[in-house]
Amino acid sequence: MQPVESYLAANHDRFVRELCEYLRFPSISAQPQHRDDVFACARWLTKHFQSIGLEATLRPTPGNPVVVAKTPRAPGSRKPHYLIYGHYDVQPPEPFDLWHSKPFEARIEGNRLYARGACDNKGPSFAHFKAVEAYLKTGTELPCDITFVVEGEEEVGSEHLAAFLEENRRELQCDGIVISDTGLVSPKHPTISYGLRGIAAMEVTLHGPSRDLHSGLFGGSLDNPAMALCQLLAQLRDTKGRVAIPGFYKSVAALTTYEREQAKRLPFGAAAYRKFLGVPKLFGEEGFTPHEQRSARPTLEINGLTSGYQGDGSKTIIPAWARAKITMRLVPNQKPPQILQLVAKHLRSICPPTVRMELSLGHSGEPYMISAESPQVQTALNALKKSFHRDPVLVREGGSIPIVNDFKRILKKDVLLLGLSLPDDNAHSPNEKFDLDVFAKGLRMSACLWPELAALHGASGTPRKPRPRRA
Ligand code: BES
Ligand code: ZN
Repeated sequence: MQPVESYLAANHDRFVRELCEYLRFPSISAQPQHRDDVFACARWLTKHFQSIGLEATLRPTPGNPVVVAKTPRAPGSRKPHYLIYGHYDVQPPEPFDLWHSKPFEARIEGNRLYARGACDNKGPSFAHFKAVEAYLKTGTELPCDITFVVEGEEEVGSEHLAAFLEENRRELQCDGIVISDTGLVSPKHPTISYGLRGIAAMEVTLHGPSRDLHSGLFGGSLDNPAMALCQLLAQLRDTKGRVAIPGFYKSVAALTTYEREQAKRLPFGAAAYRKFLGVPKLFGEEGFTPHEQRSARPTLEINGLTSGYQGDGSKTIIPAWARAKITMRLVPNQKPPQILQLVAKHLRSICPPTVRMELSLGHSGEPYMISAESPQVQTALNALKKSFHRDPVLVREGGSIPIVNDFKRILKKDVLLLGLSLPDDNAHSPNEKFDLDVFAKGLRMSACLWPELAALHGASGTPRKPRPRRA
């Protein structure tokens, strides 16, 4: 391990420069005009993997390509095989005017690297790429065979990845999957996420008159779709912060006492949290702490609301239509199709006869939970402790990575979520950043992980059960 650690320290500045190159691609999967940039980013990544000494290929899908890169391995290798998953696509950078520097020209200020995709997910996954490079370039034997699977559609629901996993099931057969695309509670709290919320998306459109109408000439004699939509949406949440849709909470698994106790160990100050969010007062479902509200409880959120005239000045119209984009975040044991059905049924039942409702269902993903006592989680806790020199914490996360369930279903293996993104890293927001001290810790974390996981599997390749230690 010593040569690996020395290599990581000696090459840190070059790694940062290379990460800045990776961040220059506006690989925005949501925007069709950036399709060429998405492909260019995938090609760059393939070449980069090859320069590290990996066997890398760009694999087409009906959507954006998947980059697959493998560490060199002896034929018939009996080493444990791990997949590392990441995504090279990023969220749209808008609104541009709130960025302090250009989103695709990485800027370093102190120990912070600012760019769209810095923490979600180019930076954290880069830590794994470079840790593997350190093994290969120092001639240190990697105790595990590793295959990177880096996709370009995560931010739009990973539409084609499940089929890709199915088609390449044999090649990707493995002992486990490692993902660094979740949160790090703080640099002092190395974090394993043992739960993710699921998601279910839909769009609700209310159609009113056949065209925008003069609001003076006609207003008062017909319904206004924007107003009707606001009234409709307002009925979806009660004053206690609960989703007011019959049956919404029916299958929700309650938090265990152990989980509630664990959450108390996390650093949290309500006043600082309120300030950090920039809201005048916190709001959430009564009877739960903010941490529980945003990780272990389901929600319904409006993500976008569009209607009428959006330009400068005023335009006196009754808009022809109004649309809301909504998502529900789900927790065990809620099922996306059932929830979508429930919400759609409820919306139809409360839609007034004065407008016509159109519903379109979007992407979805199930919630994910892994036992905190599984041998792999316990082993990863050791690796985290060694690399961060701190006791790790186990948390449930509010975000979603729908593909984790596909990994589990198709490859029948658990996913280890080792996050490197800080709460103030501005994922999906303007001025997204990645903390370069966390990058250094992430490099060490990845380097430490492979000997630990290999020891867990022993020579036989089947996991031994380490003595459980709860974080
Ligand atoms: N990296 C995030 C997910 C995440 C972040 C999970 C922090 C836990 C903690 C991922 O890139 C993401 O944003 N996922 C989307 C999924 C959606 C588009 C299907 C999300 O959660 O909104
Ligand atoms: Zn994201």
